[in-house]
Amino acid sequence: MDLKLEGKCALVTGSSEGIGHAAAAGLAAEGARVALCAGRPDVLERAAEKIRAATGAEAAAIVGDLSRGDDCVRVVADAAEALGGIDILVNTVGQIKLAGIEELTDADWQAEIDRNVMSAVRCARAAWPHLKKSGAGRVVNITGLAGKQVYLPGDMATSLTKASLISFTKTLAHEGAPHGILVNNVCPGPIDTEGMPERIGWIAGRLGVSYEQAMQNREQASLLGRLGRPEEVADVVVFLSSARASFVTGVTIEVGGGAAHYI
Ligand SMILES: NC(=O)c1ccc[n+]([C@@H]2O[C@H](COP(=O)([O-])OP(=O)(O)OC[C@H]3O[C@@H](n4cnc5c(N)ncnc54)[C@H](OP(=O)(O)O)[C@@H]3O)[C@@H](O)[C@H]2O)c1
Repeated sequence: MDLKLEGKCALVTGSSEGIGHAAAAGLAAEGARVALCAGRPDVLERAAEKIRAATGAEAAAIVGDLSRGDDCVRVVADAAEALGGIDILVNTVGQIKLAGIEELTDADWQAEIDRNVMSAVRCARAAWPHLKKSGAGRVVNITGLAGKQVYLPGDMATSLTKASLISFTKTLAHEGAPHGILVNNVCPGPIDTEGMPERIGWIAGRLGVSYEQAMQNREQASLLGRLGRPEEVADVVVFLSSARASFVTGVTIEVGGGAAHYI
C-alpha cells in the first residue's frame, strides 16, 4: 500500500521515547520529514539521530515543555520553519499519573490538564494555519483507554484528561473537514514503553501485590495476553496520517490487543 507520505512534513510531540518516537520513526520510514519534540535535550537529540541513521530522513529536534503555552507556539513555529510547513501533527505528549482523590491538589489537576489536554489544543491551534494550507492536513491525538473505561485504581486524572482529548478530537474534526483536515484519536491500551515499570510498581504498591503479579494483570488485560509494542501503535498513527485514510475522521481507534471491554 502506497501511503503517499513521501515529502510530507510531520511534527510529532513527545517523541524522544515511547509511542511518539515510534510514530516519528514510522513516518520517517515512509518518507516524511519529521520534527521531534521533548523536554530533555540529550535524549531528544539521540532519538532524532537514530531516525536519521535508520531512514536517511530529515529529523529536526526541537526542545520544549509543551505543558507551557508559550513553548507550544514556539515549537510549532520552529517545526514549520525547519520543515517548510506542517501537514501532519501527532500530539503524543501526555503522561499517566496515578493518584487518589486526596493526593491531587488543584495545582496537580491543572498540571495534568495542561500536559495531557492543553498541549494538544495549543499545538493544534498553532499548527492550524499550516494544516489549512496543506489542503490534506492530519491531526492524530494519542489518548488512552482510561478515557473510555476505568480499570486501574487512581487513574482519575488520566481518565478525565484523556476523555477530554477524545471529545476535543471529535469537535476539531468538524472544524477541520471544510479544510480537508482529518482529526482522529489513537487510543493505546497497555504498551511496553519506558514509563511502564514505574507504573506497574505504583499499581503493585496500591493493590498490595508483587510487581510480577501487577505486571501479569496488565498483560492479561489484553485478550492477547501481553503488552503492546510502541511500533504497533505507531503503525496505526502512520496510516491515519496518510492519504490512504482519506475517509476517516473524528474517530478513536483502540490499539490495545482487545483490552477495551465496551462494545
Ligand atoms: N504506554 C502506555 O501504556 C500508554 C497507554 C495509554 C496511553 N498512553 C499515552 O501515550 C502517550 C505516550 O506515552 P508513552 O508511554 O509512550 O510515554 P513515554 O515513554 O513516557 O514518553 C513520553 C515522551 O513525551 C515527552 N514528554 C513528556 N512530557 C513532555 C512535555 N511536557 N513536553 C514535551 N515533551 C514531553 C518525553 O520526553 P521528556 O521526558 O524528555 O520531556 C518522552 O519523549 C501519552 O499521551 C500516554 O498517556 C500510553
